[in-house]
Amino acid sequence: LLGLQTTSLGRSIHHYDAVESTQKIAHKLAQEHAPEGTLVIAEEQTAGRGRMARSWHSPKGSGIWMSLLLRPELPPQKAPQFTLLTAVALVQAIEDICDVQVEIKWPNDLLINNRKVTGILTELQADSEQIHSLIIGIGMNVNQKQEDFPKELVDIATSLAIEKGSEVSRAAIVQRTMYHLEKYYHLYMEKGFAPIKLLWESYAISIGRHITARTFNGSISGIASGITEEGVLLLEDDQGAVHSIYSADIEINPK
Ligand code: BTN
Repeated sequence: LLGLQTTSLGRSIHHYDAVESTQKIAHKLAQEHAPEGTLVIAEEQTAGRGRMARSWHSPKGSGIWMSLLLRPELPPQKAPQFTLLTAVALVQAIEDICDVQVEIKWPNDLLINNRKVTGILTELQADSEQIHSLIIGIGMNVNQKQEDFPKELVDIATSLAIEKGSEVSRAAIVQRTMYHLEKYYHLYMEKGFAPIKLLWESYAISIGRHITARTFNGSISGIASGITEEGVLLLEDDQGAVHSIYSADIEINPK
């Protein structure tokens, strides 16, 4: 159906008209020993979830709402790297199909012309030593028109169709995303995170900029100096102290 060019990712697809959340279904399938590469796609989510316990607006038919199951034999500390790997694959998939420039805002937002087009939510089932399953949730606005967004999103969200100026094939995007994800997943397992990190940095807008990071226990401002091997953001504050940011919302301050 999708004309996939992969050997394992997306080879088993569970497609639904409406679900609460594809993440929830993927977690359940993972527990039922579904194979690596299993992909859950829904036309609509009634309780789509975003990072930091937010909800994710997932109306019928206009976006890609999907969750991919991986089973890398790695310690759980490596999981955040998969968010960055996924972001790189998604940028390339969008650029292949839409010919628009996409930028990454750490850790997981894909922006076109400064508006969010895609979010990634990586969740895992693991013990202290090993990941059992990694569930990569991808939410992409594809064919919405500006007026389709609820008013709180109108100024901050966009879709591929808005940016490209014409309708975009969701199947083509999923197919390209699986192709790039499989390629970078293999590269990562063979060569580690370093080559992925370089690619990620080439698409990132936050690095080298003055930012404000809002974390659960307050906010810090300073220059985003880079990311670590683990995908943690480094922020150098105005006193020169370097902070490791594991989870936050980032605002890029004017130059
Ligand atoms: C974010 O930017 O906060 C992440 C959004 C992730 C949304 C996707 S849509 C498919 C999958 N199912 C969910 O409930 N959430 C993710």
